[in-house]
Amino acid sequence: MAYNLQTGWVVNEQAPPDSLEAKSRHPAPPIRRIDKERYFSREWMQREWDRLWTRTWLIAGVTSDLREPGDYFTFDIGPESFIITLTPEDGIVALYNVCPHRGNRLVHNDFGSLPNFTCSFHSWQFKLDGELIRITDEETFRPEVVAHRPCLRRARCETRAGLIFINMDENAGPLDEFIGLPDGYLEHYHLDEMFVVRHHISEWAANWKTGVDAFYETYHLHAVHPETQTVMNDMQVQCDLYPNGFSRMIVPLAAKSARVADQDSVDAGLASMMRDAGMDPDTYTGSARELRQVIQQAKRERAARCGIDYSDLLDGQLTDSWATGIFPNVQIGLHAEGAFLMRFLPHPTDPERFYYNTMTLWRPCPDPSYKVPDWMGLPEGTDVSGETRPDIERTGIGEPPNLGLVLDQDSELLPIVQQGLHSRAFEGPLWSEQEIRLRHFHAELDGYINGEK
Ligand code: FES
Ligand SMILES: [Fe+2]
Repeated sequence: MAYNLQTGWVVNEQAPPDSLEAKSRHPAPPIRRIDKERYFSREWMQREWDRLWTRTWLIAGVTSDLREPGDYFTFDIGPESFIITLTPEDGIVALYNVCPHRGNRLVHNDFGSLPNFTCSFHSWQFKLDGELIRITDEETFRPEVVAHRPCLRRARCETRAGLIFINMDENAGPLDEFIGLPDGYLEHYHLDEMFVVRHHISEWAANWKTGVDAFYETYHLHAVHPETQTVMNDMQVQCDLYPNGFSRMIVPLAAKSARVADQDSVDAGLASMMRDAGMDPDTYTGSARELRQVIQQAKRERAARCGIDYSDLLDGQLTDSWATGIFPNVQIGLHAEGAFLMRFLPHPTDPERFYYNTMTLWRPCPDPSYKVPDWMGLPEGTDVSGETRPDIERTGIGEPPNLGLVLDQDSELLPIVQQGLHSRAFEGPLWSEQEIRLRHFHAELDGYINGEK
C-alpha cells in the first residue's frame, strides 16, 4: 500500500463518513519547525502557567472516585492543589486546597471521605461546598477582618462521560464547547461505569511535552519497543485531528506490524490476546492475518454471553486502541474492556521534570469468566470488583515506574531525549506525517502562548 501524504493511513476504508471510525477531515496546521526553548526554558514554563494551565479545562479525575457525599480526592497541578468533592447540594465541586486564614493546605492526602473540612493549623471549619462553618475564637478577630465570611474558593468544575474537568479561569467557555471530539465519542466506551483499578504517579526527568510527544506517535515503537510488533500494527495507524487541539490515533491490535515479514504465524503475544478474548489458541488453524477480525467476533459473542453491553462499539473498537488526545495534557487509550488514562503534569518549579500520572480503568462485568486482559498489565491479585479504590503508587526520578516493559523503556529514554534537546546542533523537531498529532498539539499550544486563544 503506497503511503498517501494527504490522508495518511486509514484503518477501515469502508467506514461511513459519519461514523466515529471515519478519517477526520480537520485541516492539519501549517508545516513549520517549532522552537526548542519550549522544552526547557523557565520563561516558557511561566507563560504556560499564565496562559495555558490557568485558562484551560483539565482532567482532575473520574466520577467513579466520588460515590457518596463527602468523598473527595486531591488534584495537584504545577504549584496548585484542588479538592474535588461530592456535595449533597451542588454535586461535584472543585475547591482550591488552601485555607483562607493563613494558607495551610486543607487536605494533605490523596483521597478520603469527610463530613466537612477542618484546617489542621487553627481548626477553622468549612462545609463540603467550601462555605465557612466556624472561625475558632472568632471574638478575637476585629469584625471587619472576617465580615466577608471567608470561604474556600471554588474553581469551575464540569463532568463529561465519567471524567471530571476543572478550569481555573472563571470566564472560560463551557466544557462542551472545549471538547473537540464528535458527540458520543467518549460516551460509547462507558467510562462512567469504569473504576480505577491501578493508579500510579512517576516523576520523569523531562519536560511534560517531551512526554506528550512520545505518546502521541507510534513511529518510535519499532526502535524502542520492538516486542510490540507481534501484536500491534505500529505503522498503519490512523491519525485524526479534531478541533481545539484534540486528536486520535487508531492503533490496530491483534495484528502484526506491517514491518514484520512473517504475517502468518501466531506467536505468543497473539495467542495471549486470543485467550484474553476467551478463545483457545491451540484450536486455531488460521493465519495471523485474519486474527484481528476473529478476535473481534469472539469478543462480541463473549460480551453477549457475559451480559456486558458492547452494542455501542464498532468491531474495530473491540480490538484496537483508540488513543485519544485531550488537549493539553491527556491521552486516553480507549478499549472495550477498560481504559488507560495518562496525564502529563508539569512540575511546580522545574521545566525539565514532569509527573506521569496513569490510571487503569476497568468496567466490571457480572460474569467472573470475563477476565482482565493480560496486556492491561495489572499485578497479580488486583481487586477488579470496583469495590476498593487502590492507593496511588509513586516512584521518583530515575526509578523504573514498574508499569511494564514498554513504559519502563519510555521512562529510560525520555530523559536522554530531554538532554539532546539542549544541543546547539539541534534546531527543533522535523516531523513526519506519522507524527502529525504533534504538529497539531504544538500549533494549539502556540495559540495559547501567543495570546490568540
Ligand atoms: S491556616 Fe487554616 S485555620 Fe489557620
Ligand atoms: Fe513509547
